[in-house]
Amino acid sequence: MEDNFDLVVIGGGPGGYVCAIRAAQLGLKTACIESRGTLGGTCLNVGCIPSKSLLNASEFYHKAKNNFDSLGIETKEVKLNLKKMMSNKTKAVSVLTKGVEYLFKKNKVTYIKGKGVIFSKNSVVVYQDNIKKSYKCKNIVIATGSASVSLPGINIDEKNIISSTQALSLEKVPKNLIIIGAGYIGLEMGSVWKRLGSNVTVIEYLDHVTPGMDKEISKEFQKILTKQGLKFKLNCKVNSVKTLNDKTIVEYTDNVKKIDESIECDKVLVSVGRKPYTEGLNLGKIGIKKDNKGRIEINKNFQTNISNIYAIGDVIKGPMLAHKAEEEGIAVAELLAGQSGHVNYDVIPGVIYTSPEVAFVGKTEEELKNLNIGYKVGKFPFLANSRAKVNNEPEGFVKILANSKTDKVLGVHIIGPHCGDMIAEMALAMEFGASSEDIARTCHAHPTHTEAIKEAALAVDKRPIHF
Ligand code: NAI
Repeated sequence: MEDNFDLVVIGGGPGGYVCAIRAAQLGLKTACIESRGTLGGTCLNVGCIPSKSLLNASEFYHKAKNNFDSLGIETKEVKLNLKKMMSNKTKAVSVLTKGVEYLFKKNKVTYIKGKGVIFSKNSVVVYQDNIKKSYKCKNIVIATGSASVSLPGINIDEKNIISSTQALSLEKVPKNLIIIGAGYIGLEMGSVWKRLGSNVTVIEYLDHVTPGMDKEISKEFQKILTKQGLKFKLNCKVNSVKTLNDKTIVEYTDNVKKIDESIECDKVLVSVGRKPYTEGLNLGKIGIKKDNKGRIEINKNFQTNISNIYAIGDVIKGPMLAHKAEEEGIAVAELLAGQSGHVNYDVIPGVIYTSPEVAFVGKTEEELKNLNIGYKVGKFPFLANSRAKVNNEPEGFVKILANSKTDKVLGVHIIGPHCGDMIAEMALAMEFGASSEDIARTCHAHPTHTEAIKEAALAVDKRPIHF
């Protein structure tokens, strides 16, 4: 006997599980299929959450070792217990993935374990342990996420040549770690292992780190990371990685010097991006269209070319971010329930959880130039923020970009302490169409890091108080 659902969501990551919960809240009979064995997708299991646990713990370790003394906190020898640090991470992941299961029960979402395959526009087959079961449904949402990519000829063996998944579970601190790609993953994982004692070298193809980020912030970010001891080889294209006995050799071309070079290390992390994961869904057979990057094509309502099959998250265009997928999941559930769900792609914040953090929302200066939009810039350094100063966190600045005619805020870019949380205020301001004057006239508590935002807004009109 087949079960019958209003909605079957394939994939239980942040896009899929949030979509399923919202659909169930709105009265749709909903199931969510997940093959991993635990809910939460890449983000909860092998991405955002475990990496944040290690970033937090490694920062404490680093501070206890290097900064406590200057604060008058004397400790005995600070020692790393990597096994314990890893088990703390695993515990946090387990609590959170079980939490999603609880939310499914609470909201009456049926959780189906196994690999979902779209059999027809109104049926999904689920395979688990050689058992096949079929489910009928009015609508399907594909939320199967993404998988890491490698470079041609480089085989990620998860021993010496690793992906982010293994970089989150190493049993020993590598003496020399090479990271290919200076994107989000490379710089977050590079920070973790540097703090825990590795020599970290990041090889990046472009002439700057974190492509797509506001250039001024990206430059400052690289400067700060370099001061922390990360080494950068920019303008360098990795050609091959060879394993010889216990050593791994990375061969690359320096595109400026036009010479081939190589470095030896213990581990290589390949973090050169991710690709949409749609294997085994049967998309070809049922005729769902993809673009030339393998992303599922959708219209403004997230419908594929088969109108009752929808797609959200990393399998469609846009930044591969958990919170972007969540917004899309909610929008689709609301559209299915007859409401007018939508996502404002102009206001999707991004955060890199290094120390200091980097956070941004809206357009970069480079994008505004390309779009020929006139803008004013207001900047304020954390060096002049009292709270950052007393906390010994003087690095970084806030940068606000506002329309030169209307003063409407078009983009905010921050590098500095706690900015991953502070960016929410700016996202809210932009959702409400705030001007820089609105922010400048909003009372910010003293002494807080958020005063740097108010001062940057004042600086748009050239009237900061503390700088
Ligand atoms: P990425 O696309 O952010 O960065 C990859 C980097 O590799 C680029 O800078 C690229 O120029 C470089 N590269 C490509 N080929 C190369 C070569 N042959 N030699 C040297 N460098 C090369 O990809 P990443 O860091 O793997 O992240 C994947 C996705 O995961 C991103 O879309 C990101 O949004 C997401 N993510 C988000 C996080 C967050 O929100 N904090 C944390 C981790 C990942």
